[in-house]
Amino acid sequence: MAPHPRKIIIDTDPGQDDAVAILLALASPELDVLGITTVAGNVPLALTARNARVVCELAGRPDVPVFAGCDAPMQRPLVTAEHVHGKTGLDGIDLPAPKMPLQDIHAVEFLVETLRAEPAGAVTLCPLGPLTNIATALARAPDIAPKIAEIVLMGGAYFEVGNITPAAEFNIFVDPEAADIVFRSGINLVVVPLDVTHKALTTRPRVEAFRTLGTPVGHAVAGWTDFFERFDMAKYGSQGAPLHDPCVIAYLLDPGLFTGRHVNVMIETRGAFTTGMTVADWWRVSGREPNAMFLGDVEAEGFYRLLTDRIGRL
Ligand code: BDR
Ligand code: CA
Repeated sequence: MAPHPRKIIIDTDPGQDDAVAILLALASPELDVLGITTVAGNVPLALTARNARVVCELAGRPDVPVFAGCDAPMQRPLVTAEHVHGKTGLDGIDLPAPKMPLQDIHAVEFLVETLRAEPAGAVTLCPLGPLTNIATALARAPDIAPKIAEIVLMGGAYFEVGNITPAAEFNIFVDPEAADIVFRSGINLVVVPLDVTHKALTTRPRVEAFRTLGTPVGHAVAGWTDFFERFDMAKYGSQGAPLHDPCVIAYLLDPGLFTGRHVNVMIETRGAFTTGMTVADWWRVSGREPNAMFLGDVEAEGFYRLLTDRIGRL
């Protein structure tokens, strides 16, 4: 008999790569998406809450509940990334405005209520944007921490250094105080940093493989990827662009594609030049207890094979 699907909540700021991550999760029978919580990040909250619903409808899943969460970081003004994702956050292909409703409770309330109602260790959180919703839930209801099986998040960078400042990756930089709460929470953490996602680059054949699926979903994924590729190729001088957030879902589906180290990771919140840096004790020189599985590598070919196969099922 097939095991029960793993229950997950995706916390996200779509974003083209968030959108592909959501599609990968919805295409995968191993995962049961209890809900999608949205946060301000790549674009403001009204757009991320809209975009998550656009993606659910594209996947033929208007039944997935989508919640709007925090519209600004815990202690700072919002920084967005339209320069990467375009004005809508999902530039690259025109999709219809969503018809499915936004749920009428706040994302943080949904997180707290769901985790309280589930047995300990039943739900995995998958944050793909700034950690504002997750940290707000933990600060408001510390009793949910032991209920969380694991947090598998896209964020941070160490050897690859930053993409929004020389030291910081975007998701952590936008709300470092929230990240600090999550990294000090004692919850099992798996971190998918730029060190990994910059090894999961799109290439022409990989993008064309989505397009030649010949489906509306394949066409959308190719359109989105084409759009943000332009920015990243100019910035990094690389052949393609990193598809960051789907790596989180791929890790849940096939952790054997990834390698990393269980180390201590602290968040810089007060740096003159390094705010939002994930200070990963890769060589275990700090004496601080490990608190996160910090991934460092991915088998890119296997990742794209998995992604293309699953996107082809929608
Ligand atoms: C992260 O920031 C966003 O632009 C992407 O969606 C991804 O979650 C990469 O730094
Ligand atoms: Ca994201």
